Amino acid sequence: MAVVWSEDYATGDAEIDAQHKQLFQYLDDLETHMKEGIDDAYVKRFLDALGIYTRSHFCYEEICMRVKKCPVAERNKDQHAKLLDAYIQFCRRFEVEGASEDLLNRLHDFLESWLINHILKIDTHMRKCAG
Ligand SMILES: [Fe+2]
Repeated sequence: MAVVWSEDYATGDAEIDAQHKQLFQYLDDLETHMKEGIDDAYVKRFLDALGIYTRSHFCYEEICMRVKKCPVAERNKDQHAKLLDAYIQFCRRFEVEGASEDLLNRLHDFLESWLINHILKIDTHMRKCAG
């Protein structure tokens, strides 16, 4: 089920919200791909693009939190680092085994729950931060 963006996810920063919507779009694209059949070349491109996009989003957001002196800035950075560690593990598994329904289901479910929890519990603190 696609994640539908709502005001609950709003951070008070339009650029960050747009980037979060793009991350939800990645999940949506993955769901569509899984329905159409699993292809190694697609999954390789997907993982590469997701990694680049996520890293640049995290950089942008970490700078924003620092500038706004957000009290959860350090927790945000730690959680980002953990997500990137998990992403690398998924990439390693893909390199060894190739794409499978099990791998993509796990990746999808992990990303979905991580994103929803992280945005609601950490990123939305930005609403209360000045600057
Ligand atoms: Fe974040």
